[in-house]
This record gives sequence, structure tokens and C-alpha cells, in this order.
Amino acid sequence: MKKKVTKAIFPVAGLGTRFLPATKSVPKEIMTLVDRPLIQYAIDEARAAGIKEFIFVTSRGKGALEDYFDEAPQLEQTLRKAGKKELLDTLQSTNMESGAIAYIRQHKALGLGHAVWCARRLISNEPFAVILPDDVIAGQTPCLQQMVEAYAENPGCMVAAMEVPQQAASSYGILDVKEDMGSLVSVNGMVEKPDADKAPSNLAVIGRYILTPDVLRNLNKKKSGAGGEIQLTDAIADEIVEDRPVYGYRFEGERFDCGSKSGFLQATVAFGLNRPELRDDLMGYLSSVVDTRKAAE
Ligand code: UTP
Repeated sequence: MKKKVTKAIFPVAGLGTRFLPATKSVPKEIMTLVDRPLIQYAIDEARAAGIKEFIFVTSRGKGALEDYFDEAPQLEQTLRKAGKKELLDTLQSTNMESGAIAYIRQHKALGLGHAVWCARRLISNEPFAVILPDDVIAGQTPCLQQMVEAYAENPGCMVAAMEVPQQAASSYGILDVKEDMGSLVSVNGMVEKPDADKAPSNLAVIGRYILTPDVLRNLNKKKSGAGGEIQLTDAIADEIVEDRPVYGYRFEGERFDCGSKSGFLQATVAFGLNRPELRDDLMGYLSSVVDTRKAAE
């Protein structure tokens, strides 16, 4: 299958328990890195990769996410009247075309594979992308764009891959590598959250995927995997069994796990330091706070 990837699924129906109590009322994807919610980084990345249709798999309590994509005419008018052109441009850059976004509900958090399956009726016989907004990837060329370019040469399923230390393997889906071709690896199998000593490689799956509609058919089986959840990696691994190609793509860029507190804090610092208007202040604060802590220890 060699078609253009124009649709992306954003599974955002998870419970976000690692950020409780905040996620009692604020969807994880609305939490901000500096001044942009996580979801905006994901949307910008998808747009850069040529995505035209954005499918959100949501759940109870995610209303703020849907509101975020509404236009804000009153606010725009106030900014226009006040001559705040820069802020107005920032605000308008987040506006989405009418009809470009669809929301589908996952009635119960049964796993990432199940969330993707919930969007099956909005995907016809075409490849599609999946973006997990809590994996934020900073890089010169946005990660999904790199993958779409690689996909044009290597159709099949493709997952973003990153090297991780062996002891971290049990937190990821891990690739069993058939052939290492540099940025691209072909895959023999995928294991979700293996014990560190049983991990088939140090290449972990990160939250960007380009998938064929066959994966949705595999998800029809609704097979539970690791943690009792319906795993997306299992449905992708089923493709290998069917002798269809699955690739890992070693992207260029730095990935932050914003689904964890530590990753979120690191991303906040890194994105803050990348802003010219914040850099000096933040750098000064960070070095003084580190010096003071060290002196006190
Ligand atoms: P996580 O594993 O980070 O789970 O999901 P979570 O519920 O969001 O957060 P914690 O672990 O409780 O803190 C990875 C991605 O898959 C989505 C999540 O929204 C997130 O984008 N997901 C997960 C669903 O949409 N539905 C599910 O049933 C599970």
C-alpha cells in the first residue's frame, strides 16, 4: 500500500493517573509546556507532516480539550482592538479548519490498541498516523514528517524507535530487530513491556506510528495483552506474522516523556531554555538553585 498519509488519530482517552490530582479536572493533554498545551505540539507536528484530518479518541472529562480547538472570536476582537497583533497571530495560528477535527469516544480505558480501534470507521482503506501527545519530540524536522518521508520509500507499518537503557525496557514496547539499516530497521517481532533481561533489543517504541488498515482488522480480535490492556504493539506484531513489513524508524530529535512527572519537568526546562525571551532568566535561576542545593548537601 503506497498512499499518502493524511489522517492522524490522537488517542487521548487515558486516565492520566500519574498526574493526579491535576488530571481530576484537567486533561493531561491540556497541561502546558511554557505556554502551549501538549496537544498543540502534537497538532503542529501532524500539520508539518501533511496531516489534514485529526481524529481524537476522547473520554469523560476531556471537554477542555474540545473547547481548546474552538475559535475565540471575543478574545480575538479584544486583542485586535488593543493592537496586540503578536498575541492575535499566536491565537489564530491555533485555529483549525471547520470539519478537520473529529471526536470519537472510548467508553472505557481498555488500552491504547482499543482506543485506536474506536476510530476505525473514520479510516477507510488508507494508511494513517497515530500520535501520542504525551510523547513530545523536539527536533529540527518534526518526527512524524521524518517518518512520512521514510514511509514514502518503505510502505508498511512504521513505529518511531529510540534506544533506551536495558533496565528501562520494561516500560516500553521493544523491537526484535531483523535487519538494521541505519535510521530504518526491519522488525521480526515486538514485545510489550518485557522484563529487562528478556528484552530482544534496546530499541523502544515511542508514540508515533504510521499504520496500515490491516492493523485495525487485527484489533478486531480485541486480544488483551500486557497489563490486561488491548495493546497496539500486539496488533502491529500480528502484521509480521502475516509476513507484511514492519519497520522501526530511529528519528532525529529529543523525546520527552511528558506522561511522567520527571519527563514533563525536563521538557518544561528544555522548552523554556529554547525561548530567547526566557533563556537568560531561566538559566540564571537554574544555575543558582543548583549551586545553593549543592552547597546545602
Ligand atoms: P498511558 O499509558 O500514558 O496512560 O497512555 P494514561 O492513562 O494516559 O496515563 P497514566 O499511565 O494513567 O498516568 C498512553 C496514551 O494512550 C492513550 C492515553 O490517553 C495516552 O495518550 N490511551 C491509553 C487511551 O486513549 N485509551 C486507553 O485506554 C489507554
